[in-house]
Amino acid sequence: MIPVKNSAEILSMRTACEVAATVLYKVVQLVEPGVSTYDLDQAGKEFIRELGAKSACYNYRNGSKIYPGYICTSINEEIVHGIGSMRKTIQSGDAVSVDVVISYDGFIGDNAKTVIVGDVSENVRHLVDSTRESLDYAIGFARPGGRVGDISNAVQTFIESRGLSIVRDFVGHGVGRSMHEEPQIPNYGHKNKGDKLKPGMTLAIEPMVNLGSSGVRMLSDGWTAVTVDGQPSAHFEHTVLINQDGPEVLTLPKK
Ligand code: MF3
Ligand code: CO
Repeated sequence: MIPVKNSAEILSMRTACEVAATVLYKVVQLVEPGVSTYDLDQAGKEFIRELGAKSACYNYRNGSKIYPGYICTSINEEIVHGIGSMRKTIQSGDAVSVDVVISYDGFIGDNAKTVIVGDVSENVRHLVDSTRESLDYAIGFARPGGRVGDISNAVQTFIESRGLSIVRDFVGHGVGRSMHEEPQIPNYGHKNKGDKLKPGMTLAIEPMVNLGSSGVRMLSDGWTAVTVDGQPSAHFEHTVLINQDGPEVLTLPKK
């Protein structure tokens, strides 16, 4: 069963997502050459605390593994779930993905963004721009009467038309009282397939896209997913509410 949120729950989701967006915005502003991913993680921890929220990543369990960071920071060939490290320093030419998941008053907000640092190759710019645009395009399909497969298919057709590869080992997801709720939202699939979309559903849509092949390998830390061919990867994510009249992106920083 896909949870449908009532109006009180939607208000709570709005608040949690606004906090997640604000934290992501603040962390991304710190991304520059010389800064380590540990610095970003510590800054994320502090921003989350200042806003009265909690990191949903810290101590997140997957089987026997426990995530040690407060946010996820993934550079270049790292796809998702990179752990902040003093030995990983940002350099000009890098594509840095920051993923922030927070809990506030019992609800989760989840968002991510990839930023390019200094002078990057045309290829990397194409990768990052296309991944962001694929998310914007797919969000347009998060509307009542549609199906999960419409969102999946939108990402896939957009990304493949740009000559890029979809990561298949990780998927988007429903989000609410838990970080991962039904449905799963793969970034590939068929129109008109999958669960029906209804007002009150809140979905984390998150294309993960590789410049080279789609293959994924896990680092020995048990969390960091990297591309098998060492080529760069990009990741964007928004939490989206399905309203009667269409999608509403909940993870926009407050103006
Ligand atoms: N946005 C990621 C997800 O939905 C965040 C993972 S949190 C971590 O899976 F705990 F795994 F780091
Ligand atoms: Co997510």
